[in-house]
Parts: sequence; C-alpha cells; structure tokens
Amino acid sequence: MTFLCHKDTIAEPGSLGIDKHGLFIVRQNGRCFAYRNRCPHLGVELNWTENQFLDRDDSLIQCATHGALFVVETGECVAGPCLGDCLEAVPIIEHNGELHLAEDQT
Ligand code: FES
Repeated sequence: MTFLCHKDTIAEPGSLGIDKHGLFIVRQNGRCFAYRNRCPHLGVELNWTENQFLDRDDSLIQCATHGALFVVETGECVAGPCLGDCLEAVPIIEHNGELHLAEDQT
C-alpha cells in the first residue's frame, strides 16, 4: 500500500494536495475523497493556492481557473464550463488513521 498522509493532517472540512501523486484529498463530514488534480475543462491543476481545493463555504470542490464547482462525494461538475463532467476519482483506503492508495499505481 502506498502511504499518502495521516488523516488528521487534513482539516475538517478541508483539503490537501499530494503533489507527488498528482492528486488531492478532501475531508468532509468525517469522510475522505481523493481525485486526480486535473480539471476536466482544460486539464490543468485545480488549485492556485497550496492545499486550497474547496470553495469559500468549504462545501464544493472548486477549480481556480474558471470557477467550476464539483460535488465532493462524486466529483461531478455541477456548475461551470465542464458542467456534467467528472473529476477522476482515485480509490483510497483508511487504515489506523492513515490514508493509502487502494491500488498501487505505475
Ligand atoms: S480549467 Fe477548470 S474550469 Fe476551466
């Protein structure tokens, strides 16, 4: 299993970029969700600021480039230029307070 981070390093709610693996993790309502850091609109990274992937209310994932908004649990875009597209989910597992990739990636 590939270690990503300790769950408690992510604020609740909050988000954390894992640059080494090109992904980010959002923690909300006690659950964690990981996605590739690539906006389906133009294929760029979603964040301008380190570890900032959520909107002002910490309720939706937001792309900093054109403001697309994505549902935390599903990655579906619900507003913006890529409406209806989805972020690419990355399966993770939680074990003893640590988050790991569910599948080792090449
Ligand atoms: S690049 Fe993300 S909304 Fe345009």
